[in-house]
Amino acid sequence: MLASISTFALEGVRSHPVTVEVDVRRGLPAFTLVGLPDRAVRESRERVRAAVQNSGLEFPLMRITVNLAPAHVRKAGPGFDLAIAVGVLVASRQVRPESLDSTALCGELSLSGELRSVRGALAAALGARDLALGRLIVPPGNGGEAALVAGVEVIGARSLGEIAGVLRGEQMPVPATPETGDPDPRGGPDLLDVRGQEDAKRALEIAAAGGHNLLMVGPPGVGKTMLARRLPGLLPPPDLEEALEITQMHSAAGLAAGRLIRDRPFRAPHHTISAQGLVGGGAVPRPGEITLAHRGVLFLDELPEFGRSALDALRQPLEEGRVEIMRGQRTLEFPANAILVAACNRCPCGRPADSCRCGANERDRYLRRLSGPLLDRLDLVCDVRPVPPVQLVDEEPSGPPSAIVRERVAAARERQRARLAGTPARCNGDMDGRLTRLTVSLRPEVATGLTRGRESGALSGRGHDRVLRVARTIADLAARGDVASEDVDEALSYRFDGWERMAA
Ligand SMILES: Nc1ncnc2c1ncn2[C@@H]1O[C@H](COP(=O)(O)OP(=O)(O)O)[C@@H](O)[C@H]1O
Ligand SMILES: [Mg+2]
Repeated sequence: MLASISTFALEGVRSHPVTVEVDVRRGLPAFTLVGLPDRAVRESRERVRAAVQNSGLEFPLMRITVNLAPAHVRKAGPGFDLAIAVGVLVASRQVRPESLDSTALCGELSLSGELRSVRGALAAALGARDLALGRLIVPPGNGGEAALVAGVEVIGARSLGEIAGVLRGEQMPVPATPETGDPDPRGGPDLLDVRGQEDAKRALEIAAAGGHNLLMVGPPGVGKTMLARRLPGLLPPPDLEEALEITQMHSAAGLAAGRLIRDRPFRAPHHTISAQGLVGGGAVPRPGEITLAHRGVLFLDELPEFGRSALDALRQPLEEGRVEIMRGQRTLEFPANAILVAACNRCPCGRPADSCRCGANERDRYLRRLSGPLLDRLDLVCDVRPVPPVQLVDEEPSGPPSAIVRERVAAARERQRARLAGTPARCNGDMDGRLTRLTVSLRPEVATGLTRGRESGALSGRGHDRVLRVARTIADLAARGDVASEDVDEALSYRFDGWERMAA
């Protein structure tokens, strides 16, 4: 008899429907798997055989052929075990095919028939919803995560024996309940901990409000890392849709812990990371750090120390908010909409200006590692200077707590959302040059100052767009409908060009 079972393959961070066909017929006992299986799928033969036998079910001593279709979808990992095992049970008439109507299954089997969690269960549930499948059976560790998707009944089953019981109607299915989790009750580190650094805090607020990438330049120990860690806490908490996206990325990387992630991610990879580690890829493509930072913050400390290929790979995600990876004839897409916060010294030695002995050549080489396209997406450049020691031990915190800044950021983001409705951008930092010039118009007297800068050659065309984007955000923070001269002036102070001159 022929059985046909629905399951899903994880490709990148999304799922693709896969049909497991199982044919059982008389002949010399054999167990053949076809349909581009990798080693894990071949090994699944041994697990399926043992799991069926150890679950008190019968493994047919017949000629068994399993086909995973469609052939062009790459099938990696052990997540097909369960569908193959249930296919064998159906094809050998131990389970009725009707009991699997509108049902998909995903899970790895142990030799004893217990189910083990798999990566990408949330993506599988989204796939089941899109195909209008009513039911998804997953390992218990994946139930809370898969059940987050509305419209699909998710059953978290402990073992193959339990699933056989449910499908035969001998046992009641236990529906999984969504694990919505809680935001971090400590709320992450607070801006109140940072003494002084008013300018850097202001730049952080603008970065949060407009989704702008930020480069902090300053010697070691001035608090750059400390400041960067406080950026996620200045962003409004993710809404349900964003939380699902964040969870989906982590689930595909095997980092979801089976529940909804309610906090904005903060990822801080070391500068020795490869291009692949940063933007994703590999023989079985996995999301990179920038995708794990999606809807949150990617922090690159000591930016010029990152490899050239890693920095170049950042170009597309920074421009488009997504990563494209070629896989033979297919293109995989990873969402990658994160705020980049980078930090670096002013020169390779990192000492303050008065004790630095780096030559112009050394400084030049250090800065030139940051390529033009990368610098183009760094809307804000902020000079971070040491805080006087007396201020560091000051009892009184300076500036507002993160919660107050977060409210201002949320209000500014609301204005941007309304203005940008109907465009692909959500905030000013998402706008490309064309959209920037379309949406941000300056009154003549405001425009004159900026034009003068351009004509004198101090401001490139792209620099001009950066200033417009940032000025628009500064005006949004001040609840101004029109961009004022003071907004443009402040935006000009965060230009990269200024730092270049300063470093020279
Ligand atoms: N402005 C500041 N307010 C409070 N503590 C600070 C400040 N700047 C530096 N520190 C202290 O110095 C340590 C080093 O700061 P860090 O953020 O690692 O500096 P950087 O990343 O610039 O090298 C911090 O952990 C913190 O204890
Ligand atoms: Mg640091």
